[in-house]
Amino acid sequence: MFMKIIINGRAVKESIPKPQLLSDSDVIERIFNHMDNQTTDLGDRVWQEPVEHYHSQERFEAEIALLKRTPVPYCPSAALPDKGSYIARKAAGTPLLVSRGLDGMVRAFINACRHRGMQVAQGSGCSRAFICPYHAWTYNLEGNLRHIPGQEGFPGVNPEEHGLVEVSAREKGGIVYVMQEGEITEDMLAGCLDYFSPEQQMFETDEMVDEANWKILNETLMEGYHIKSLHSETFYPYGLDNLTLVETYGANSRVTFPFRRIEKMRDVEPDKRCIDGLVTSVYLLFPTASVSVLSKHTNLAILEPISPTSSRWVLYRMVNRAADGVEIPLEEAKRDALFVGDSGQNEDREAARAIQESVASNANSHFTFGHFESAIVNFHQHLAMHMDKQ
Ligand code: FES
Ligand SMILES: [Fe+2]
Repeated sequence: MFMKIIINGRAVKESIPKPQLLSDSDVIERIFNHMDNQTTDLGDRVWQEPVEHYHSQERFEAEIALLKRTPVPYCPSAALPDKGSYIARKAAGTPLLVSRGLDGMVRAFINACRHRGMQVAQGSGCSRAFICPYHAWTYNLEGNLRHIPGQEGFPGVNPEEHGLVEVSAREKGGIVYVMQEGEITEDMLAGCLDYFSPEQQMFETDEMVDEANWKILNETLMEGYHIKSLHSETFYPYGLDNLTLVETYGANSRVTFPFRRIEKMRDVEPDKRCIDGLVTSVYLLFPTASVSVLSKHTNLAILEPISPTSSRWVLYRMVNRAADGVEIPLEEAKRDALFVGDSGQNEDREAARAIQESVASNANSHFTFGHFESAIVNFHQHLAMHMDKQ
């Protein structure tokens, strides 16, 4: 399927493939084949990415511009459960306020009061109105300006023309996407999977800042070539080194990392095999988000670039369901999240920060991504394509 995208007034044809991912039993079959032959999925090209792209201000600004014209995950739908639920935070450097209206629709606004620009809400919560903390101009959930204290002091100011400025927001498959320039159409989300079921509960949110370019942090999630060397005492005792399945769908990808305990599926008939709890699946939602389906919980991670050399992780953790559809106990999901966060993920973040310290030196002119790192190659190929379209 092809669709026409307008970027900066120019029409660009972009294919939006319908995601076709392997079934559970095909995933398991392919993993067993790799285990038996000591192989892994391989890409077909080596990619060299200029190191400058990890510290240049110019490149950073071009990437922020891309994020503004791309539908980017903002939060799971479950993070805005009720009418009046809201989350305020920066996206692509702009403070946004995303809320669920009385009609159940999610709307996104630039979080800037129309009086003198103060942010009208902070953090998250549930409210029927947004009262600006500076001089109390008051907006409803639809962003309309409903009250100006001492309105006689503002002759000629028409409240109808001073609502919060809305940007595009759309929900699909349990995720709220926002785009600051232009309108998100259904076609633009055609390549997005249903990542969360409507009943899946969110149990935790978290934020942390790393002194590393967002791409270095993203790259740690997309290959299994480093499992034994970097995670020798954390993930490796449970997982396999350099054995991953890589599937790409447009700019997005799914990388499957098997646990050793997948062996128990050998005795199960192929059509009764189920991967839940036996693999970690990491979906890249191009460009800055990822969904990691772990044993007991799923993590939606959104990377917010702060500067060329620092990034904020915004994390939303959701409870998984067992194969029979029953929700896994909350305590188990929390333990799972603690284990992953305290161990292997910290090692990845440390590695990213260490890499960042040398990017501005002249040690490397390029970073090289090989055949084991094909999901990263796919990411960079698409990023380069989008950068060219500026
Ligand atoms: S800046 Fe919001 S009321 Fe003045
Ligand atoms: Fe890792």
